[in-house]
Amino acid sequence: MHAIVVEDKQLVLREVPDPTPGPGEVVVDVAAAGVNRADVSQRQGLYRPPPGAAEYPGLECAGVISALGPGVTGRQVGEQVACLLAGGGYAERVAVPVGQLLPVPTGLSLQEAAALPEVACTVWSNVVDHDCLRKGETLLVHGGGSGIGTFAVQLGKALGATVVVTARATKHDRLRALGADLVIDYTTDDFVLATRDFTAGAGVDVILDIIGAKYLADNIEALAPNGRISVIGLQGGRKAELDLALLLNRRGSVSATSLRARPRAEKARIVAAVQREVWPLVEAGAVKPVVHTALPLADAPEAHLLMESSDHFGKILLLP
Ligand SMILES: NC(=O)c1ccc[n+]([C@@H]2O[C@H](COP(=O)([O-])OP(=O)(O)OC[C@H]3O[C@@H](n4cnc5c(N)ncnc54)[C@H](OP(=O)(O)O)[C@@H]3O)[C@@H](O)[C@H]2O)c1
Repeated sequence: MHAIVVEDKQLVLREVPDPTPGPGEVVVDVAAAGVNRADVSQRQGLYRPPPGAAEYPGLECAGVISALGPGVTGRQVGEQVACLLAGGGYAERVAVPVGQLLPVPTGLSLQEAAALPEVACTVWSNVVDHDCLRKGETLLVHGGGSGIGTFAVQLGKALGATVVVTARATKHDRLRALGADLVIDYTTDDFVLATRDFTAGAGVDVILDIIGAKYLADNIEALAPNGRISVIGLQGGRKAELDLALLLNRRGSVSATSLRARPRAEKARIVAAVQREVWPLVEAGAVKPVVHTALPLADAPEAHLLMESSDHFGKILLLP
């Protein structure tokens, strides 16, 4: 089969051996694969795949099951699925643990379904499972125009929250169309002042943060009493000073998670919950995949250039 491999920090289309399904795995013929910011870090040599994961980049895909591994029951060759992966999505075929398979939501194409697993599992596990976002609370999403952000805005609204986002001005109209209640241009405006003003001084209840160190102090400053901050990205650095007195006064919490590194059993629990709690919202049209563009697999280098430019809105897909 063909796959995109990383050679000298470049993405190259190569002929590689077909994957063999291990116990509890199926092989999926990939129809479309999602591109994620983590793939860029992997290409740059900054983010190694976890032990046991395929070496090729690609954290999510959708396609058709073409082979069953030992011990797999309840799955059929020919079944359409969306997949959460630890790697290997930039390929014509990939082996996937059955616990990381999702059905293709009714009404969605395989391409649209490929845009969902990584963002749905990441956003649900942080904002809902860990931070327990409740109806009527305020959610602040940094990087609203990202793959993660476009999903988080819609999920927050579907759950009855007020949603505030930071993004460059070129993305504001599209974020309002997705339901964002307040859109802040982080390049010109102070998000702490803007959120305090918008919430009449109360602050925000939950923050989904992709920036890390650069925003830590301001995130705590923007937090309401009993607020929760989930750090999922370190685009603004990894080391910062934490004012524990301020956090203590807010009775706040800061957590940080990575989905990719979680054990298979934990991923299976998250995938099952996403199917149970998020897929009905997708099938009802309350949460939609936001696909910026779909490119042939061989154009993976262009896909990464586009992602690094941040000119995209939502997800970039690769089509084998
Ligand atoms: N921990 C996990 O399990 C996990 C899983 C998935 C993703 N992530 C992380 O989530 C982040 C988004 O991933 P993605 O694949 O959706 O990436 P993406 O689509 O490439 O989005 C990156 C976004 O960062 C925004 N941005 C850059 N500087 C910013 C700033 N100072 N303030 C606010 N926004 C800023 C850009 O928005 P503008 O164009 O508006 O500047 C862009 O939309 C990445 O950091 C990724 O590593 C983590």
